[in-house]
Amino acid sequence: MSLTGGGRRLLIRGLAQLATSRGTDAPLRGPALGDVEVVKDAYVLCREGLVEAVGRMRDLRPLDGEVEELDADGLCAVPGLVDCHTHACFAGDRVDEFALRAGGATYEQLHAAGGGIMATVTATRAAGEETLAAAVREHRAWMLRAGTTTFESKSGYGLDRDTELASLRAIIEAGGVPTWLGAHAVPPEFGDADAYLDFMLAEVLPGAAELAEAADVFLERGAFDAAQSRRYLEACSAAGLALRLHGDQFTEQGAVPLAIELGARSVDHLEATGDDGVRALAASAVVAVVLPASALFLGRPMPPARALVDAGAAVALATDFNPGSAFCESLPLVCSLAATQLRLSPAEALTACTVNAAHVLGRADRVGRLAPGYAADVVLLAAPDWRYLAYHLGGHVVAAVVVAGTPAALP
Ligand code: NIG
Ligand code: FE
Repeated sequence: MSLTGGGRRLLIRGLAQLATSRGTDAPLRGPALGDVEVVKDAYVLCREGLVEAVGRMRDLRPLDGEVEELDADGLCAVPGLVDCHTHACFAGDRVDEFALRAGGATYEQLHAAGGGIMATVTATRAAGEETLAAAVREHRAWMLRAGTTTFESKSGYGLDRDTELASLRAIIEAGGVPTWLGAHAVPPEFGDADAYLDFMLAEVLPGAAELAEAADVFLERGAFDAAQSRRYLEACSAAGLALRLHGDQFTEQGAVPLAIELGARSVDHLEATGDDGVRALAASAVVAVVLPASALFLGRPMPPARALVDAGAAVALATDFNPGSAFCESLPLVCSLAATQLRLSPAEALTACTVNAAHVLGRADRVGRLAPGYAADVVLLAAPDWRYLAYHLGGHVVAAVVVAGTPAALP
């Protein structure tokens, strides 16, 4: 490969280690999930926003032409992290509810009493499009500070036509991958879930399908049942959207078989998934997205991630960043939880929030690997070993982030 020629270039030199998943497929599962290639004393050469080459410093030949250099002496590099499940488009907060939960109220009780998701819906509807767009930009900056260079965000705090579409526009404007979560909760102006879905599918889906890449539904007791979820997802699929599900968060209500039958990209949460669900997912192409920060934040059981991996399922990790069940934008913290609570190795965690998360977003050919032709999105870790990504619990492990070959200004 020629390392000469035109184009804006950045050389990240002197890395103590560079770590990237070795397998070239996506999603990765079984032993390939934990197969991470580690290059010591490494460099990354970026050109025009893409990785041009990676290798050992001793093999780096002199570069012709103008090359900006970033001396990463003693730092480690991993691919820009991919957060494939967030609810970053919201106004206000739920800190009062958080304090009530600390005093014993449960998330489900608050939801049933009209708080929870509906409290954020009220604040988000009142915010106006510009305030909402500013909120997503602020949340995106927090994520970038934590090493996330590609993020998905759902709508789902509008639950009316104007606010749902404004939410999707705000997510796109902030650089996010937009998912239409039109079926998140039933707002009080509708008598029941079916009447609400009639409205959403007739009045909002046509506009949402032009903006979003995927659709998502909260299949749960007190939200949408399996028949309602099927109706919503089938209509969204017919409109060209990829499918995602919030499933088995509190109770098993048929989300896993429905996700498999409809060929969904993922089913997310899975804290309540039993052995049959684990086996079914392992035999399917649906990615199991586990969200340990959400389980931790709500004091719920952790999802059976180890069993899923051992059974051969494709597993991804995400934050579930939102104001109610996971006010946490940090994938490094999620990797720490994966290692300490889910019994995934640091290598499995890395693949789960890079290659496999990119697959969930339909971008595994572009992001999630430090390899030629991929986006030059690089996280530089302030650590002598890349596994500090998971090891340094809550630490300031991200020293710098490069986005599309350009060092980012971090907030
Ligand atoms: O993934 N469970 C449904 N939705 C979100 C929480 C949303 C909220 O509490 O505001 C979740 O946990
Ligand atoms: Fe969620």
